[in-house]
Amino acid sequence: MKTRITELFGIEHPIVQGGMHYVGFAELVAAVSNAGGLGIITALTQPTPEDLAKEIARCHDMTDKPFGVNLTMLPGFTNPPYPEYIQAIIEGGVKIVETAGRNPQEHLPAMQAAGIKIIHKCTSVRHSLKAESIGCDAVSVDGFECGGHPGEDDIPNMVLLPRAAEELKIPFVASGGIGNAQQLVAALALGADGINMGTRFIATKEAPVHQNVKDALINASELDTRLIMRPLRNTERVLVSPVVEQIVEIEKEKGADMTIGDIAKLVGGSYPKIMQEGEMDGAWSCGMVAGLIHDIPTCAELIDRLISEADSIIKERLTMLAG
Ligand SMILES: Cc1cc2nc3c(=O)[nH]c(=O)nc-3n(C[C@H](O)[C@H](O)[C@H](O)COP(=O)(O)O)c2cc1C
Repeated sequence: MKTRITELFGIEHPIVQGGMHYVGFAELVAAVSNAGGLGIITALTQPTPEDLAKEIARCHDMTDKPFGVNLTMLPGFTNPPYPEYIQAIIEGGVKIVETAGRNPQEHLPAMQAAGIKIIHKCTSVRHSLKAESIGCDAVSVDGFECGGHPGEDDIPNMVLLPRAAEELKIPFVASGGIGNAQQLVAALALGADGINMGTRFIATKEAPVHQNVKDALINASELDTRLIMRPLRNTERVLVSPVVEQIVEIEKEKGADMTIGDIAKLVGGSYPKIMQEGEMDGAWSCGMVAGLIHDIPTCAELIDRLISEADSIIKERLTMLAG
């Protein structure tokens, strides 16, 4: 399957693994890239730019295929030294960066001068057009279904993707809620040049997270995610848990008066405990696609399955219907 995305990134299949906090380590990234997709290391999971440089080197040892680095610029408790992380990316010879959150414009010249292709993650058509206008090479269009930050517009991919296709000239991948071949084919039909998956890649053999996290995805249904931090306009879709129910209650009580201080203890610093120690009573990004996750394959099994089933859907079901 050749698309503008496989051409742009020099990959075999149009399947990207989105940056994920405390999940996007070299083990997963190399497994995705070795399977012909595009794996992406999460820069800010590494405590310092020096640690990111080591993680990039570790990933080069595990794959000779292209891989990327995610640079997230969300409102945070502390502002990381972005130029130094970017220096580590450039010196590490990485040629693809997934930016997310705030407008990445100020950081583009340094990366583009080093020959880096930029894919910016957007949750709306207007932000996608902005990304195109500032010179990004591609966008990842994240619908309302997505795990993590779906933005504040709440437009699901069935409408968001064809709207993006109407307006964008640069290629885009469909992101949010995707986990199987039917959805890959649908995304292509809606105008995307590939797909980006987050949650689905956590339930793989190589994802370096605690088994409890993978089991939670197998056991969850599409009804088991919640939106938190909406009053702060920093909405995040997470898997439900007692702590998450507590956060939702606080948000209901405080309404528009809520501040980050009201929930900081409940949301701050939970990722290492959840992802590495398997303590599941916390808040962690998770998409509605959990309802479609029923097994824990290797990344190669998952990607091969998506591609071969997509091929059958196109050649058999769709061709028959068209015929
Ligand atoms: C556990 C988890 C952590 C994530 N962390 C980040 C992150 O640090 N930066 C980012 O840009 N996106 C992050 N995302 C979003 C993913 O890159 C991707 O856009 C999203 O998961 C797509 O939706 P899906 O989960 O329905 O496939 C995260 C998603 C998950 C599930």
